[in-house]
Amino acid sequence: MRLIILGPPGTGKGTQAKQIAEKYNLTHLSTGDMLRKEIAEKTELGNKVEKIMKAGELVGDHIILDLVKKNLTLNFILDGFPRTINQAKALEKLTKIDKVICLDSSKELIIARLKGRAKKEGRSDDTPEAIEKRFKEYNEATKPLLAFYKNKLIIVNGDQPIEDVTKDILAALK
Ligand code: AP5
Repeated sequence: MRLIILGPPGTGKGTQAKQIAEKYNLTHLSTGDMLRKEIAEKTELGNKVEKIMKAGELVGDHIILDLVKKNLTLNFILDGFPRTINQAKALEKLTKIDKVICLDSSKELIIARLKGRAKKEGRSDDTPEAIEKRFKEYNEATKPLLAFYKNKLIIVNGDQPIEDVTKDILAALK
């Protein structure tokens, strides 16, 4: 199975992708996690993207595509990719996607969640300014993907407790 999970920042993409990957034995491919690993390991790529991520801006398509190409497997759930129409078109040349899950959440609830995570984990892009920028990037660059994938789209209410969101996704995938 080849899936994409998308949605606004902090909507629960990573949380749900882990559950779905386990259930269907898929590789969980998170471009955000890949980039954070590069930063933690202080690689050349990590140094290049650190400031961009901290500001909540999007990293260039060519960098992201290289990372995805290196890690793509046969069965996967992509989390945080594609994020632009350009990335989606490039992905079409690499593989076929079965379903696209979009988590729909209210901004107020997400901001509360991210404030909670900022206190616990201190992720560098969980500052009020970067969160606002991430929402802007989502609305401008990523939202058009909903129309791009309209024939494969599953929209799930992400405002529910974690287990209920998982249940709804699994029911829709059956
Ligand atoms: P990325 O890591 O993808 O960040 P994001 O989209 O902003 O999403 P988050 O990781 O913040 O949240 P999430 O939706 O995964 O939610 P989570 O499960 O963590 O990208 C980071 C940056 O990398 C980008 O800004 C960009 O710079 C760069 N980047 C990455 N991919 C790129 C690409 N393709 N192109 C260009 N640049 C790219 O949950 C959030 C919190 O809420 C957690 O604390 C969790 O425990 C909690 N939570 C989750 N679900 C629930 C629930 N149902 N109820 C209560 N709490 C919940």
